[in-house]
Amino acid sequence: MKNIVLLGAPGAGKGTQAALIANEYNIPHISTGDIFRKNIKEGTELGKLAKSYIDAGQLVPDSLVIDLVADRLRQDDAKNGYILDGFPRTIAQAEALDKVADISVVIDIELPFETIIERLGGRLVCMCGETSHVSLLGDSKTCPKCGAEMYVREDDKPETVRARLEIYERQTAPLVEYYGKKGNMVTVDATVGTIEKVFEQVKKVLE
Ligand code: AP5
Ligand code: MG
Repeated sequence: MKNIVLLGAPGAGKGTQAALIANEYNIPHISTGDIFRKNIKEGTELGKLAKSYIDAGQLVPDSLVIDLVADRLRQDDAKNGYILDGFPRTIAQAEALDKVADISVVIDIELPFETIIERLGGRLVCMCGETSHVSLLGDSKTCPKCGAEMYVREDDKPETVRARLEIYERQTAPLVEYYGKKGNMVTVDATVGTIEKVFEQVKKVLE
């Protein structure tokens, strides 16, 4: 059983790698960002509460995230492991997670901010969950997985990306030290190249 946490700045490639890990090891990909975006789309109470924070590039308050994840981890499909993408993001969230879960490994995906800005500048996402990039799709915006039209995420505007990176530095980067001290964290250098090359590094960590 592997309970995996993926750490990393916005746009470092967490979602891309988490989807590959979930597929390879047949464990659920739990992304708090995806959960919020689904709730926003469906107009739920949680979606309404989260929307203003997400659109501004701020973190949703811990009180709205922690119970949500604890509930999700109790579901049946998470019994044989899971991959957490985008949680925890604050020390308070990490401490709360320690109370309800036994984390096998934390993978910290590292990428310089300049590269992140390029990647988020061209990211396209699909309602089906697929993520891609204009450099991969050319002029087409058609989702390679389901054929729907892909779109730019609301919080990928340049000024919002800057806000997200600042928040990452202030609130999430301290987790690198937090998990570093615990001794279960491995760093993956995402400058090695393609999505496949990064995934090879990730698999080495997991095997
Ligand atoms: P969330 O959805 O988690 O966003 P994020 O952390 O900002 O990360 P991203 O999804 O933007 O990037 P990623 O690392 O997944 O990169 P990706 O794989 O897409 O959170 C959104 C918001 O929700 C937060 O700002 C916050 O408001 C709220 N929230 C979520 N969780 C929360 C929590 N725990 N507490 C409080 N608030 C929370 O890749 C990016 C691009 O690069 C893509 O175009 C991709 O195709 C491309 N790419 C990936 N890998 C490569 C590669 N190796 N080579 C070339 N291109 C690549
Ligand atoms: Mg993501």
